[in-house]
Amino acid sequence: MGKNLILLLCCLSVLISVTVADWNILNQKSKLGLKITLKNYCESWRMNVELHNIRDFEVVPEECTDYVRKYVSSTQYDIDSEVAMEECLVYLSTSCDLQKDGRDAWIFDIDDTLLSTVPYYKKHNYGGEKLNLTSLEEWMRQSKAPALEHSLNLFNELKARGLQIILVSSRREYLRSATINNLVNVGYHGWTSLILRGPEDESKRVQTFKANVRKQLINNGYRIWGIVGDQYSSIEGFPAARRTFKLPNPLYYVS
Ligand SMILES: *[C@@H]1O[C@H](CO)[C@@H](O)[C@H](O)[C@H]1NC(C)=O
Repeated sequence: MGKNLILLLCCLSVLISVTVADWNILNQKSKLGLKITLKNYCESWRMNVELHNIRDFEVVPEECTDYVRKYVSSTQYDIDSEVAMEECLVYLSTSCDLQKDGRDAWIFDIDDTLLSTVPYYKKHNYGGEKLNLTSLEEWMRQSKAPALEHSLNLFNELKARGLQIILVSSRREYLRSATINNLVNVGYHGWTSLILRGPEDESKRVQTFKANVRKQLINNGYRIWGIVGDQYSSIEGFPAARRTFKLPNPLYYVS
């Protein structure tokens, strides 16, 4: 009994010292003794979100919301997105043998892929607040989201090359007309299909919902050449697309 108590106390003290070190992230040193600035910490946090090492976060760490604000307003975010979209075209030109039979398909997400939710998150501390779906959906119903310009360029280029464009979003079905209005108002038109989450899909994880949609598309004879999304839940799971392209998103995580 005494031994167990000592073991428990040891564990607790290790736990507490680790927790305290995490709390006081400023003035910390890395394992190699490097001094870590707040910018180092937040940049590393963002990088590891993009690498999918950090998952399932509910909020951006409080000390990094200002860093995230700067990033999503920066030329860097713009260029990161542009390079990703250019790589889609490189892939298409070098590695895709399109059949041009109306069954060559490309999948896009909507939020933070075609449309930007940054204006919403601007009012909600850049991901520093826990998601309030009611308020996010109120904002979506206003159809005011701006286009992400590089995505719009890619969308038009894919359309011109004869691909069928399929939009797959975890937005709920009742937002259909608001979503269509928003997309059309900022310049998107000519997609083949817009697939939203029906009531029967709401209990499923987003990743499962999106994988099921791909399965259905493949059963209908489509070849899915690529997916562009800002979340891993849009591009992971089976059946897989031939290639996937991830846009940066440090604001929120959808599993
Ligand atoms: C979520 O947003 C709605 C609509 O803006 C608001 O009425 C509600 O109080 C919010 N809920 C929380 C927990 O903040």
